[in-house]
Amino acid sequence: MAILKILNKKDPILRKQSRPVEEITPRIIRLLDDMRDTLHKAEGAGLAAVQVGVLRRVVLVETEPGELYELINPEIIYRSEERQQQAEGCLSIPDEWGITDRPMTVTVRAQNRSGEWYEVTGSGLKARAFCHELDHLDGVLFTDHVVRMLDPEELE
Ligand code: NI
Repeated sequence: MAILKILNKKDPILRKQSRPVEEITPRIIRLLDDMRDTLHKAEGAGLAAVQVGVLRRVVLVETEPGELYELINPEIIYRSEERQQQAEGCLSIPDEWGITDRPMTVTVRAQNRSGEWYEVTGSGLKARAFCHELDHLDGVLFTDHVVRMLDPEELE
């Protein structure tokens, strides 16, 4: 287990497309474990492998402490018509927050570390986190489609 370095938004790797995981090797398991430790240390709600410099379609989401989703090759298979506009940040963009426009509810289909496909549905913060982390796999940052950035005073 290890704490990995989280890349900053200026790093061009964050703009690249992540590749599917074809086989869940011990290296992928180690990546998941290291990403979990890194996410907990940073006290974030989610982390994509590209943020630690690995261009693979792997993300973690943990919006409730202890409820950690490991998502390998994830895709969004349902987006509600209802939308939400809430504050969002990113571990690669420290100290910047903005309002994004996202579906209120999404369903994600992904593989777990055993390679089994599963589906998870989340609303509110969890839906935002799924959308945000999956965007990372396609080189998209929340600041690309922010409704407006927030002043620091607005965060209180
Ligand atoms: Ni992010």
